[in-house]
Amino acid sequence: MDDKKTLYSAIQPTNNLTIGNYAGAISNWLKLQNDYNCYFAIANMHAITVRQNPAELRQKTLSMLALYIACGIDPAKCCLYVQSHVPAHAELCWVLNTFTYVGEMERMTQFKDKSARHAENVNMGLMDYPVLMAADILLYQAQFVPVGEDQRQHLEIARDIAQRFNNVYSPTFTVPEGLFLKVGAKINDLQEPSKKMSKSAENPNGSVFLSDDRDTVIRKFKRAVTDSGSEIIYDPERKPGVSNLLSIYSVFSGKTVEEAEREFAGRGYGEFKLAVGETVADKLAPIQSEQAKILADKDYLNKVMQDGAERAARAAGRTLFKVYKKIGFYQI
Ligand code: TRP
Repeated sequence: MDDKKTLYSAIQPTNNLTIGNYAGAISNWLKLQNDYNCYFAIANMHAITVRQNPAELRQKTLSMLALYIACGIDPAKCCLYVQSHVPAHAELCWVLNTFTYVGEMERMTQFKDKSARHAENVNMGLMDYPVLMAADILLYQAQFVPVGEDQRQHLEIARDIAQRFNNVYSPTFTVPEGLFLKVGAKINDLQEPSKKMSKSAENPNGSVFLSDDRDTVIRKFKRAVTDSGSEIIYDPERKPGVSNLLSIYSVFSGKTVEEAEREFAGRGYGEFKLAVGETVADKLAPIQSEQAKILADKDYLNKVMQDGAERAARAAGRTLFKVYKKIGFYQI
């Protein structure tokens, strides 16, 4: 072990990732993996809190892993693993359940939203989702958790649970802090630029997926909603459409928003939208071909998952052992 701080994050292997996920999560992880002792998980146990097609879930687990690696997440630098491969997640979750109140879970915003959307299947796992997430983070004694705004409440609960346990026994868990990164900008829907780009938008032209081919990407950008006036300037209040396109361009070109404004000064919206589309498509093409290459190499993927699971299980096992000891589980 070195003296780097520990960082934990995870993404569910469901749905297709959008360029918003790339900007908000993956592009940040690429930088973080050099400075922190990172654990990145594929949260398939969280995924089953809403019904999944088994064959698809299996396939998406692999394709997401391949995608991470294709984007530049390096399994030699960080611990990249699949959540269900490390039994300690379910085990710690069970213990933490006894430190979590039903009332506080019922009040979670995401639980209320998802219960409404999946009214036919409001299962215990859906309600327990935040506790499993707390177990994920606390097992690795993570100091930092880079997450989006939508996960803020879940992170708060993880902190509460950690503190509660530490107070009842003695310091056991590191109390994690959220890393709400400013860089990597929030990316909004191309058709409704005041809303976050989501995996499941009503209008499929509003979201650009990392798996979209070149023509699709360019078509979606050509159709992107712009604003009145003709100036290409960053002003999210008055020009949400143009500002969103500038943010996207900035993430995918590596230039700052100011540089982008200068570059497009005096040019028309049509030309601008095409340039943004081409920049995104140029960035996605090599990622997609690398992902396909990795996906075809099952031996390599299995080895990555095996190594990741072993490393994760070792770290998680240390925490779980301490917890079991403190709560009075007889050890053999
Ligand atoms: N709930 C997170 C999401 O949907 C994914 C997740 C699972 C996670 N476990 C985590 C994120 C632990 C951070 C830390 O985005």
